[in-house]
Amino acid sequence: MRLLPLLLVPLLLGACAADGSSVSTAADPTEEAEWDTLVGENERRTYNGTGNNLDQPEWGSVGQRQLRSMTEASYGDGVSEPPGDDRPTAREVLSEVFLANPSTTSTANALFVGWGLLVGYDLFLTQDNASEPLDIACNDAEIRDVWCPLGSLSDPIPFSRSEAGEDAGGEEARSPINYATAFVDLDWMYGRDEATSASLRTEDGGYMNMTNDELPHLLDDGTWLVADQRPARLPVTFALMTLLLREHNRCCDEMAPEWDPANDEAFDEMKRCVTVRSKCEWALLLLCCYGKRAHGGQRSNMEKEKPLWYLTQSNGSYDAGTDAGTDVFFATVAAPALYSALPSTVGLLDDGFEVMAEHEVELATANADLAGLVTRIGGIEPIIRGASYARARGIDASFVAEVSVSSPLFNFPVEAIQRGRDHGVPSYNSAREAYALSRFDSFAEITSDTTVQATLSTAYGNDVDLLDAYTGALAETEEGSGLFAGPLLRMVFLEQLYRAIVGDRHHHSHSTQNEDAALSTLKNLILNNSLVSSIPLDSFSAPDLVTSSNCSSTEMNEVTLAEGYKLAWNQSDLVEEGGDMFITLSARGIEGQGMIAIGFGGLSMETADDFVICVVESETSAECTDRSAPRERSEPPLDDEENTDLDVVTVSVDGEWTSVTFARSGEGTDDSVRDGRGKAKEDYLLSDDIYLSQDTSIIYSWRSGDGIGKHPNSQRGAAQVNFQDGSVADEQCSDSAEYYSLHGALLLVAWMIIAPYGIYQAR
Ligand code: HEM
Repeated sequence: MRLLPLLLVPLLLGACAADGSSVSTAADPTEEAEWDTLVGENERRTYNGTGNNLDQPEWGSVGQRQLRSMTEASYGDGVSEPPGDDRPTAREVLSEVFLANPSTTSTANALFVGWGLLVGYDLFLTQDNASEPLDIACNDAEIRDVWCPLGSLSDPIPFSRSEAGEDAGGEEARSPINYATAFVDLDWMYGRDEATSASLRTEDGGYMNMTNDELPHLLDDGTWLVADQRPARLPVTFALMTLLLREHNRCCDEMAPEWDPANDEAFDEMKRCVTVRSKCEWALLLLCCYGKRAHGGQRSNMEKEKPLWYLTQSNGSYDAGTDAGTDVFFATVAAPALYSALPSTVGLLDDGFEVMAEHEVELATANADLAGLVTRIGGIEPIIRGASYARARGIDASFVAEVSVSSPLFNFPVEAIQRGRDHGVPSYNSAREAYALSRFDSFAEITSDTTVQATLSTAYGNDVDLLDAYTGALAETEEGSGLFAGPLLRMVFLEQLYRAIVGDRHHHSHSTQNEDAALSTLKNLILNNSLVSSIPLDSFSAPDLVTSSNCSSTEMNEVTLAEGYKLAWNQSDLVEEGGDMFITLSARGIEGQGMIAIGFGGLSMETADDFVICVVESETSAECTDRSAPRERSEPPLDDEENTDLDVVTVSVDGEWTSVTFARSGEGTDDSVRDGRGKAKEDYLLSDDIYLSQDTSIIYSWRSGDGIGKHPNSQRGAAQVNFQDGSVADEQCSDSAEYYSLHGALLLVAWMIIAPYGIYQAR
């Protein structure tokens, strides 16, 4: 029960489990054969997840009771009765906390929220048991809405307890039944039994059945021809689901020459191909967004440098002793926390990244006629563009009215509180303790926001120990972390997803696909399966929105690209004639020691061709080296020419700014190796990389401290610089569709975050 830190160590460091039961892929052929036997190389997953664990074939399968891997059940009678007589009702929590707090904004975008919800749909599904009502009282007199139209005189809101299995109420504490598999196997997309899966496919068996426009079929009864209706409830999850279905069919097309689509194994192969690809982004979601700093406030080196790579490696570790089963606390508290990040409206951007005419579509309106909306706006693309460019609301103790009170379709926060009591999840403080976090004595320790403190205190009678885990987990803030979720939620996600990796035999059994998939990203999924041609560099983050003063061009040949990075140059006209060019890189706050770098020819580490890294050794000396493309997020290697040192002309420290000027010959030295685009592949050649007649794509980074190394994520960026007139379009300031429409994005922020709150306050 208290093993979380121990459990996380192998995940973060990439080692085997401490009990030695893990098995790693071995290079030795005999050991490889043993490995194949153990994990079942190329063995097929079952639809319902059975047989994944050879000794415990039921583990993680459909129909298992959800686990209590970290927390104890907390029922009124110890085994089954919902607690809560001394707590506020779910509606009181809604009106006194969730609707009374202003929302925060996240740096993550709506795609991130949608993807997180899909991860949840993949890991759990409960069913209501109509014979066990647990209706919700409408006792918050102030609020009259679609759920309680007569205020406190309204009938209670119907609510049923979850199916809880045979031994409900018996000796062992009750736990809900999970009707999804606990593995990341896209069971919500492929079906959880063979008959359902077959019904979703075309007659030849290999392709998923979609319309001619490559959308899911809408059936006569208003449901969609998909295994699980939950993703079709929200535009963003509907769009992501559609992309994954298209990806499956794209895989079929790719494999069709070699595979007979009607063959079951072929279907399985495609299913696996799509699943492992989606797992990559799922892993990214886990480590980059929830997992960061969860381990003692630090990310391990592995996490920092190769999160995707590590988690998709088959030689991570399979632990036959780990039950991947979905945890009650994860399914009841952590996953539904994402609903607080949902906006009230769906932002739609056209192919020029301009706001579409039909833009303020309320979530409930979109849901009521999703098919109509998608037809009117010409496909899922406007939804994807809108979701990738708009910042999500933070995961916090505030909900928009559209998902809580104003639509008969959504009642997320009230259901989540009541479900927590139905499932006997512990109180907030007990849960923190179970996840190896300290208990809190006051609301002020949970969050520094005094408004949130006051709302919690009012709703929970100033008793911090009464706080529901859901409310407390949402209210948590962590100073300066800039993270999407508070510490408790991150620990819960990490613990669940860690077990879902190491306890899934099939995750480890398809090494080739896993490793290929490590190269895949959500961005690829979008670009390969839709008409969206441009999304932010990181498909889970909305681009920063700052005012143009941050991005000034002070002189013709100097641009401030970030608050801490400047680029200047001169004699640019000489470049095309082969003369020398002087480039000055300046970074703020590194004083006499640090790295200042620039890369040309692309907007990401994967695509930039040539790099220069200057290492500042003191206030007067620096070394700049000429480097080639790493094609991954790692240190750009030295060029292969003999002398990679560039002439450093000056080093200076002026207040907070440290500057290094180096010289490059416009002629370059060695441009013999060229890639398909005719660009110098290995060696730095300014005339290839810096265009005067058009914008030049660059990336930049800086960091303080000794030598070359990974920059903090806040100290890097990408831009397009016009070296002729000094104009710049960058991640933060661009009005170019390559990045996003600043106007459109600002409007999206206004609708999604500011407007709903304002509207609520005004009511
Ligand atoms: C020196 C060793 C370097 C390492 C180990 C490294 C590592 C990384 C990693 C891990 C990321 C992804 C961060 C995340 O989102 O989690 C990243 C992103 C980025 N890095 Fe680096 N980096 C290095 C050098 C550089 C240099 C020299 C530049 C620019 C001249 C640069 C520019 C960028 C940019 C623009 C991004 C964001 C776009 C992208 O993800 O490709 N990096 N880097």
